[in-house]
Amino acid sequence: MSMDPCPEVRRPDGTLRAFVEARQLVPATILPLLERAEALAAGAEPKGVPPASAATLLFQQPSTRTFLSFAHAAGALGYHVADLRDMSTTSFEKGESQEDGWRTIAELSELIILRQPSHDALLDLVRSTSKLARPPIVVNAGSGPLEHPTQSLIDVATLHRRKMLDPSKGPRHMVFVGDLQRSRTVNSLLDILLGWSHITFTFVPVAGLGPSECRLDALRAMGCTFEVCADLDDALTKADGVYLQRLQDEYGGGDACRHEAALDALRLTPERMDRLPEHAVVMHPLPRRKEIDPATDQDPRAGWWETVHHGRFVRTALLESLQPARSS
Ligand code: NCD
Repeated sequence: MSMDPCPEVRRPDGTLRAFVEARQLVPATILPLLERAEALAAGAEPKGVPPASAATLLFQQPSTRTFLSFAHAAGALGYHVADLRDMSTTSFEKGESQEDGWRTIAELSELIILRQPSHDALLDLVRSTSKLARPPIVVNAGSGPLEHPTQSLIDVATLHRRKMLDPSKGPRHMVFVGDLQRSRTVNSLLDILLGWSHITFTFVPVAGLGPSECRLDALRAMGCTFEVCADLDDALTKADGVYLQRLQDEYGGGDACRHEAALDALRLTPERMDRLPEHAVVMHPLPRRKEIDPATDQDPRAGWWETVHHGRFVRTALLESLQPARSS
């Protein structure tokens, strides 16, 4: 069952207005979105928004892929797209409160796509904008280390394309490697994969950066099979899917030098790639540092560039499903 983080993510008629957490989506809602993304990638016409609909991309943390693919997706639907990325050019620089700045954007936009460091602040925005005369659509493009639900949607699209989500093909095993504690893409992907009970998990974290206890509790509560292990080479031989993540050192904590050395030891080299079964898929949300040797980019099991390319169509399908409420 899908779980809304607060009632204000929906309009009074029950339609979804805000997509802020991965657990809002379940296989029954995800699979049609992924089919639609395939159709859009094959050239289907996007369902346009009402004329003069405005989308604002407010990115208070760095981004390349998420920013561009959302800008292109919103443009493809006919939104007029504007962005705020450099806060020194905004009225925040003049001392405006976050609340007033965000309210201004909400007054001027039918769609807000937001990347910033606080998940609670994002939920506050969803709640406060529900009281406006014309509540905008709100989409989370990354909220601190906690959530990045549209990245998980595009990761799941790659898993679907690589036949990992079909329970009739038998159990599938995912191996997660790297900084599993501070990674919003790992958090959101795990939440979304809870919907597919044929998937089991091995975690190979950088020492001290394993999945949080509350995330492991969530896996236990859903009856998922998982193990935490240190032997990447052994884990790879049994993997159907591998998901790597860089150190999220922008969030601080721990010993950066020690973590970096530990992650270097987990680097995916061509030799390591040879340990993987032929049918496996390897993913990384990017940007990568040293986690994956670029010499592996041409390997058919490499999924990271496919995820980047297809992500635009998945985000178009998502925004299409969140059309602005038509004024009566
Ligand atoms: C991720 C992010 O920003 O959370 N990148 C992305 O959106 N594709 C992962 C990361 O920065 O490590």
